[in-house]
Amino acid sequence: MIGWIKNLFKKKSVSKESIQLPILPESDILEVKNYALKDWKLGETHGISHWQRVERNGILLSLENGRIREDINIKVVRFFAYLHDKCRLNDWADLEHGVRAAEMLTTIRYTILKDFTDEEIALLGKACRYHTTELRTGNPTIDVCFDADRLDLCRVGIAPNPKRMATKQGAYYATNIHLVSKHVLKYEKNSLRQKIAVLTGAGISAESGLATFRDSNGLWKQYDAKKLASAAGFHENPQAVLDFYNYRRKQLLEVEPNHAHKMLAELEKLHDVTILTQNVDNLHERAGSSHVIHLHGELTKVTSSKDRLNPHCIKDYPLDKLICLGDKAEDGSQLRPFIVWFGEYVDAIEVAMDYVKKADIFVVIGTSLTIHPAANLVEHVHPEVPKFIIDPNTKKAPNGFVHIKESATKGVDKLIEELRNL
Ligand code: APR
Repeated sequence: MIGWIKNLFKKKSVSKESIQLPILPESDILEVKNYALKDWKLGETHGISHWQRVERNGILLSLENGRIREDINIKVVRFFAYLHDKCRLNDWADLEHGVRAAEMLTTIRYTILKDFTDEEIALLGKACRYHTTELRTGNPTIDVCFDADRLDLCRVGIAPNPKRMATKQGAYYATNIHLVSKHVLKYEKNSLRQKIAVLTGAGISAESGLATFRDSNGLWKQYDAKKLASAAGFHENPQAVLDFYNYRRKQLLEVEPNHAHKMLAELEKLHDVTILTQNVDNLHERAGSSHVIHLHGELTKVTSSKDRLNPHCIKDYPLDKLICLGDKAEDGSQLRPFIVWFGEYVDAIEVAMDYVKKADIFVVIGTSLTIHPAANLVEHVHPEVPKFIIDPNTKKAPNGFVHIKESATKGVDKLIEELRNL
């Protein structure tokens, strides 16, 4: 049995005025919370703040002497809070929404509810189905669900009626409604491995000694991008392009990951970190990041100049080995660097978009956000997700982003601090 439940059952007499709500792991309900939020079109009357209050009320109603009563299944109560409104058609008298919610449970039985026993599914189903039609059922878990929702009627200007509550506790709190709002539901800090998506650009490797593209000493200030980073340029002067990439491949042997790369790898100890990098260097991997998606290719690989995405032709190529004119790919075509050149399709963008949409936290480090479709990823972050950008020069951070106006190596320490305080 989960440790926090054991502690909740030890008997100790506590007055209602001084009850402290137990601090619970949010990880237990995050998936159902996100499911409830997904495609939610109705307003806040039945939105996330209501559901969180119903969760809080449910926990409060389940306490006896400061402990969760053994005869109440708090998991069912917490899931009820986030599922009972899921099938609402409108924000007012939709009395059938409970029945629809009960039916909807079958569609998530083996996903979000996979850890539920059949008995728990039955309890949750009844709580959803009857919470607007039955006064009480006599089952403590279901009746607590009923009252948890009814105690929040004040949000629509209705004072909960002690006579219309299913439980003694419910009647008590309906009479002393001021006591309810005193309680705030807190989740265990850092109990949750968060899904963090980090979009990086050339700026994160600048302090390792690799030039960015558009800063004063940037590559595209020194070289012609059209000539050196396009299929047309390769066709026109393949030797010049190979020289350019051989120089950059060799440079990779002379540089090391910096503190910023290393801290992102470190972060994996606490969270599920996905690096979505525009960089073609391998410094994230060398720093220890285990989940790196390269949007613009990799200098450590080569491919066919006839079909660059042909998996049989994409090969690791030792960095100290030059790519030369006449070197053949598997398909007999001229070998080229495995780089996404201007005008070429960014095949990893859909996968990246998916990680951005699913992220609990989104971070941008060292990119001018000028090159699409990568730059467009910032538009797909969930509005409620904490967003950070680390860049010493960015004039205006994208909307809703916390701007850490520092270099990558300094900025990541501030970021880690921010994440701790989330
Ligand atoms: N720490 C953090 N950010 C930095 C640092 C640093 N030490 N130094 C520079 N920067 C920032 C700059 O302020 C700028 O916003 O890094 C960004 C670098 O921007 P670009 O040079 O435009 O590089 P990037 O955004 O990665 O380019 C995108 O363009 O040329 C193509 O395919 C190439 O992937 C590349 C894409």
